[in-house]
Amino acid sequence: MSSINKLLIDKVSATYYSGEQRLAVLDNISLHVKKGEFVAVLGPSGSGKSTILKIAAGLLKPDQGQVIINGLDITGQPHLVGYMPQQDLLFPWKTLRQNAALPLLAAKSDKKEAYARVDEMLPVFGLQGFANYYPHQLSGGMRQRAALMRTMLIESNLMLLDEPFAALDALTRESMQDWLLKIWERFKRSVLFVTHSIDEAIYLSDRIYVISEQPGRNALEQLIALPRPRAKAILASREFTLYKQILINALAGN
Ligand SMILES: Nc1ncnc2c1ncn2[C@@H]1O[C@H](COP(=O)(O)OP(=O)(O)O)[C@@H](O)[C@H]1O
Ligand SMILES: [Mg+2]
Repeated sequence: MSSINKLLIDKVSATYYSGEQRLAVLDNISLHVKKGEFVAVLGPSGSGKSTILKIAAGLLKPDQGQVIINGLDITGQPHLVGYMPQQDLLFPWKTLRQNAALPLLAAKSDKKEAYARVDEMLPVFGLQGFANYYPHQLSGGMRQRAALMRTMLIESNLMLLDEPFAALDALTRESMQDWLLKIWERFKRSVLFVTHSIDEAIYLSDRIYVISEQPGRNALEQLIALPRPRAKAILASREFTLYKQILINALAGN
């Protein structure tokens, strides 16, 4: 069963309407994520990357095409996946621990059990000792880890992450990438990761889908055969540079 697709987005097209305006955002997009795979969607701003994740999470119904998760057609139906939207805000009036417990409590877990699971996860996410802090008392990297922890606590082994590190400074972003890889190797989740950073996509992924500018179309599917576990030294390798050139060309429409 290891080759089964966790997620299949099959020939999806989508349009936004506002008043008289009609905006074609996705044109016949197809992609898949295999079990345990780390897949990135790379595309320019406005190419419809966030829309792809909303459709994958069942929050938006496409005009055409299907979303299949674990072999089930769930097109346009919200379902249980670890979806982290682009602006994943922690509630400012709740502590880290309360914020993290929200998805478990929403799924009607026992309160004591929910908090026990959060407490168990805090050290894994480097947040031990901060359980009772409010979001404004945490650094940007810690808030991002807290939001990822909350997403990870959702009982689904498919994670949809929308530019989770885009707002961080370069150094924090790099350490968060290494940290995400460690978490991913430990928990063996299937990941669909949206980014507009070429380096980030190569460094993290098993495969990358390049999406063209609006309306988003499949421009390139690129396997990244760099060995794991990965470390920042590979950024200077010949293979990395070659992948980068291929992706730059694809993004430029060549
Ligand atoms: N709810 C909406 N209503 C109308 N247009 C939207 C809506 N959401 C996004 N768009 C537009 O659709 C296009 C694709 O958006 P998005 O999926 O957020 O792209 P990306 O994440 O790649 O930057 C953009 O031009 C954006 O302005
Ligand atoms: Mg986006």
